[in-house]
Amino acid sequence: MRDAAPVSTPPRVLPPNDPRQYDDLAGEWWRPDGAFAMLHWLARARAAMVPPASRPGALLVDLGCGAGLLAPHLAGKGYRHVGVDITRSALDQAAAHGVTVVNADATAVPLVDGCADVVSAGEVLEHVPQWRRVVAEACRLLRPGGLLVLDTLNDTVLARLVAVEISERLPTVPRGIHDPRLFVDARELVAECARHGVGLRLRGIRPELPGTLSWLFRRMRGRIVGRPVGTDGSREPRIVPTRSTAVLYQGCGRRSG
Ligand SMILES: C[S@@+](CC[C@H](N)C(=O)[O-])C[C@H]1O[C@@H](n2cnc3c(N)ncnc32)[C@H](O)[C@@H]1O
Repeated sequence: MRDAAPVSTPPRVLPPNDPRQYDDLAGEWWRPDGAFAMLHWLARARAAMVPPASRPGALLVDLGCGAGLLAPHLAGKGYRHVGVDITRSALDQAAAHGVTVVNADATAVPLVDGCADVVSAGEVLEHVPQWRRVVAEACRLLRPGGLLVLDTLNDTVLARLVAVEISERLPTVPRGIHDPRLFVDARELVAECARHGVGLRLRGIRPELPGTLSWLFRRMRGRIVGRPVGTDGSREPRIVPTRSTAVLYQGCGRRSG
């Protein structure tokens, strides 16, 4: 009998937004030139909305924390960083970066009402079919006066074009990571937060253009010479405010009471 020829396994093709994609991409989270590079830039911009803790033992709950990319940007601010996510492989990495992890769905978080000084929901609402339930949980977890910070993609034709049709063709955004049917209408988000006692203010954001083009060029060159961008001392692109919330936007607001 002849030996069976080795069969190469094709990369599995998963439906858009299937959470198993995060397991397949587990090695990408902390690579500065990897598929999740832009999440690092967004985490820095999100952390900039978080002030230093106002009391000892303050808690920041990070919904859909992934591999804990927010952690380095919170260093020195005085929070205990608790991360909630459904992806175990990402949580293992978050824990290795000092995050206290909770393997749970952001629509049903096993933490008590009012426990959080800050709740962060970065790049997660647009991945959850019941994003309103995540908002309800975020607001429930906040203590009166607590701060909600988030960023997400708007439910617009332009967002579909930019975030899916264009960005997912770039080497820096995984193909199929988004399901544009889940994108979050900005006005509905503000209304939903208000219903739960949080007055959310929004602003549009985008990566700075010259910095991003230069980063893409350095990334390409780094791959050729075997010195990945981000390990060469160069700075990563900044996320900057933009007038329109039509694609990517940040939100920030305090819970009343
Ligand atoms: C685009 S990543 C963002 C990760 C992180 N917030 C960041 O900005 O680096 C989306 C994350 O949301 C998580 N996620 C998706 N649906 C979720 C749900 N229903 N509950 C909790 N986490 C969820 C995924 O596992 C993934 O880690």
